[in-house]
Amino acid sequence: MTEELAISLGTSNTSIFMPGNGIVLSEPTVIAYHGGADSHRIKAVGKEAAAMEGRTPDSITIVHPLEDGLIANADACRDMLAAFLLKVVRPGIFGPRIRAIVGIPVGLAMEERRIYDDVFAKVGCSQVIMIENALLAAIGAGMPIHTHKSGLIVDIGGGMTEIAVVSLGAIINGCSINVGGDMMDKALRDFIMGKYSLNVGAETIKRIKSRIGSLYSNDMTGLLVSGTDIAARAPANFRVKATDVMEALMPYYLRIADAIDSILQVLPPETAADISEDGIHVTGGASKILGLDKLLFGKLNLPIIIHDDAEYATVLGGGKLLENSVLLGEIIGKR
Ligand SMILES: Nc1ncnc2c1ncn2[C@@H]1O[C@H](COP(=O)(O)OP(=O)(O)OP(=O)(O)O)[C@@H](O)[C@H]1O
Ligand SMILES: [Mg+2]
Repeated sequence: MTEELAISLGTSNTSIFMPGNGIVLSEPTVIAYHGGADSHRIKAVGKEAAAMEGRTPDSITIVHPLEDGLIANADACRDMLAAFLLKVVRPGIFGPRIRAIVGIPVGLAMEERRIYDDVFAKVGCSQVIMIENALLAAIGAGMPIHTHKSGLIVDIGGGMTEIAVVSLGAIINGCSINVGGDMMDKALRDFIMGKYSLNVGAETIKRIKSRIGSLYSNDMTGLLVSGTDIAARAPANFRVKATDVMEALMPYYLRIADAIDSILQVLPPETAADISEDGIHVTGGASKILGLDKLLFGKLNLPIIIHDDAEYATVLGGGKLLENSVLLGEIIGKR
């Protein structure tokens, strides 16, 4: 029996959709090994591996198999995916036969595509349909991508931001920039280190972003967190402010606004008219920060639609295609 799956292999999170069951897995794109990564002795994957980050003894190695939206460590990626698939697909005598729709970055080079082919083949995918993440996100966000009208999708993930103009089931213009939530985490960490002389862990940074992250300069909320006082070399509690997050992250969101603007500048008039009517659709985990809609509207003066389920748009798009063979056929026919 062949299982059908949609797989979003993101820099921060991997999600799997199964028709009839919806999203059956969503876990951080992380793997932990006993010893070095070349030991191939898996200690944990996903959430469990992420929880070990920053707390591991030297005998455990944590690997993030993707960097900037691309597979950076094929062996670790294969080990991690195989473990994820085992959680959702029951292997038969000859192993699972999987037909998968897989999201890929726009403009993937031939060599990189071969790495994807190889990784997915080795984890039991006998048929892999690769579709650009931006197109999948547009479908997941419910944009009518198969009509002659153009739409603009911006997916702000962990490793990169993809901007694409879609029409008639294909990407007709766009760009990717290597700005994403992971880079913002580092910026926030550096900011807190510089301002408060405190070192905070990766999990705390993520909690700060999701609890009080905001791009409003008058946001008065704050959050009590713990870190290490660098001078005293001792644990310390302190109150981080929403405006700290704003100061640290604003330059990155402004770079994204600039990149969108540069795409808008070169659009033919008909396409520009469609987009000014329909607005800019925004997905990806890093779009969930409060106030992004106001910021982008202020810079671009177009309606901004930030989607619910922002971080699942890609995998939901893949899922919709598995459930709509006519649309899938149209999209495959375009390439
Ligand atoms: N409320 C929030 N505010 C800001 N950032 C957030 C929030 N929630 C999640 N994020 C960030 O979103 C990013 C993950 O988004 P997503 O799952 O879309 O990325 P990905 O698909 O794994 O990465 P990519 O598409 O770049 O390869 C992480 O960097 C995470 O910290
Ligand atoms: Mg993504």
